[in-house]
Amino acid sequence: MHVQTIGNLECSVRAGRYSVTLLIGAPGAGKGTQARVVCETLGIPHIASGDLLRDHRRRGTPLGEIARSYMDRGDLVPDDLVIEMVIERLGAPDAAEGALLDGFPRTLAQAEALDGELAARGGGVRAAVNLDVPTEALIARICGRRICGNCGGTFHLQLRRLPRDGSCPDCGERLLQREDDCESVVAHRAAVYQQSTTPVLEHYRRRGLVHEVDGARPVQTVADEVLALLQDRVRELVAS
Ligand code: AP5
Repeated sequence: MHVQTIGNLECSVRAGRYSVTLLIGAPGAGKGTQARVVCETLGIPHIASGDLLRDHRRRGTPLGEIARSYMDRGDLVPDDLVIEMVIERLGAPDAAEGALLDGFPRTLAQAEALDGELAARGGGVRAAVNLDVPTEALIARICGRRICGNCGGTFHLQLRRLPRDGSCPDCGERLLQREDDCESVVAHRAAVYQQSTTPVLEHYRRRGLVHEVDGARPVQTVADEVLALLQDRVRELVAS
């Protein structure tokens, strides 16, 4: 584990470079799984637009009600709503020194809004990690995913032995399947990703910020590579 990274991140913060890291990848690529490992190691907040929207749905807010139909169909929630939600979250005190964004930006309009917001804070995107996983593996991952609404745990039926009674191995609550995790919606989500998010990758590739990572390997192997490349990137920033 690259514990040195924490010191390096602090250097970059001390140098006044507010920055965020992006985790990009198709549905099921492992963004949430990797984000949890990386954020725990680096001590930075994990901001996932999908989690924020699901939280609005649980609380029954107006945004949650609007988002519901888009999410259940596998379509993207309108840009203006998602941009406002994420920018507001980035303004919270725990994100004052940066964050890892999971699932945002997903469209060019979102990327441009994020870039503008970060520039206004005197910072920018530090790195964008593209988790690459073959489509057939994505569908198997998503259809076998189970989540815990209580502790936030994410599991896979074949990755970890789960209790036979369907309870969460960490907190004992009942495990659930996300409503958009059925095969027909997953195929649509993958198509939406190709159409809307490929331009986002191109946008950051043109700036030399995208790191390609093979996400079809064991969770810890992928996490080690992501942590190592973030450490290298922070070194570059501190040196520049
Ligand atoms: P969101 O919640 O962001 O879903 P997603 O992008 O489709 O991604 P997932 O959460 O499905 O997958 P993941 O990559 O996080 O994979 P995970 O780590 O869980 O978005 C949901 C919806 O919200 C969207 O469809 C849209 O409607 C809306 N939305 C969200 N953001 C938006 C935005 N910016 N703009 C507009 N609308 C937005 O892993 C998946 C499974 O694989 C798990 O079971 C896990 O255990 C397993 N797994 C993970 N890694 C590995 C590994 N290395 N090997 C084997 N199994 C693994």
